[in-house]
Amino acid sequence: MTDWRVPLSVLDYGVEEAEAAQRVIERRWLSMGPEVLAFEQEFAAMQSARHAYAVSSATAALHLAIHAIGLKPGDEVIQPAINFVASANMTLLVGATPVFADICSLAEPTIDPEQVERLITPRTKAVIPMHYGGNLARMSELQELCKRHNLLLIEDSCHAIGARFHDARGRAPHGMMAGSIGDIGTFSFYANKNLACGEGGMLVTNRDDLAERIQMLRSHGMTRSSWERHHGRVGSYDIALPGFNYRLDELHAAIGRAQLAKLLPGNQRRRELLARYRDGLRDAERWTVVFADQLEHSSGHLMVVVADSTETRTKATQALREASIQTSMHYPSILEFSGFREHFTDVLELTHQFASRAITLPLHPGLRPDYVDEIASILRAI
Ligand SMILES: Cc1ncc(COP(=O)(O)O)c(C=O)c1O
Repeated sequence: MTDWRVPLSVLDYGVEEAEAAQRVIERRWLSMGPEVLAFEQEFAAMQSARHAYAVSSATAALHLAIHAIGLKPGDEVIQPAINFVASANMTLLVGATPVFADICSLAEPTIDPEQVERLITPRTKAVIPMHYGGNLARMSELQELCKRHNLLLIEDSCHAIGARFHDARGRAPHGMMAGSIGDIGTFSFYANKNLACGEGGMLVTNRDDLAERIQMLRSHGMTRSSWERHHGRVGSYDIALPGFNYRLDELHAAIGRAQLAKLLPGNQRRRELLARYRDGLRDAERWTVVFADQLEHSSGHLMVVVADSTETRTKATQALREASIQTSMHYPSILEFSGFREHFTDVLELTHQFASRAITLPLHPGLRPDYVDEIASILRAI
């Protein structure tokens, strides 16, 4: 429900999601059970990952990842400041220190591996890149430097669900899924994501040593789930370590499965619309389309353009608002939030420029192509 003529994103919900919810209601099992197990198996198959754990949010997945790798006070984690704040918050909440690296460029707003390398100290334990808008960070370089410095690599893949990379320029190993390149990948099913359940997330890993720990940490440190006990497979449980309650419930998992079945065609439609935006803005001097040269590898989560100045951005958002077209901004720099700026005084020039000039435009599988053309022509007229 929205008052905008052209909203930023619209849920692709229909009879499939309603039937999924109905199935759970009829089964009368609400906590982690057969829907969660099936969702995890289907997700792991898409990712070609050995392990997938459904959780209550991507923030929970990041928190689990950070716990599972044993981060402690004094450890440093290098990450981008153009990001949703969850990685930085989770780093701080275990007492470790986020160290912010600049982005590669305004057209490629993912963490710059050269900067990462310069920021490594004996305290650095991990790097958390974020695949901005569904476009892969420079994973080959990040993987190589993490290996050389013995660092863990956690991918914030919240935007990049379903993105498989065939990258001629060696940005990532050929044909791998975003989230399954580093040690751990995290995904969000928040309401505006390509796979949306309202709340929810998934953590994937190919590392058996981390998997067992993550599974227990997700549910109080328990060795057995209540579904297994209900079915008489085991009589009791042990607590092997102190854990959280980050479980996903059956209703969200069932709806997640219905959404997963629509994900890849939805992403394909998003890419077609991205290409239409890019073509509509070709040669528009004031505008840079982010990742314009690799849209075919994107999950197509966001359509983002960078203006030649903050003033141009303001004019464009006003013109779009007058036409009842919703826009957003992904993201303000984390360094500029009041809770961060006192403690983090680094100046990241490209990050600052990006945060003051980027606009997110409407994008979802049901977006009408003529709206894309209209938005491009409004931007060209600025
Ligand atoms: C890049 C990124 N990381 C983390 C999160 C946190 O996800 P969640 O809301 O599922 O905790 C989000 C969600 O908006 C995100 O976009």
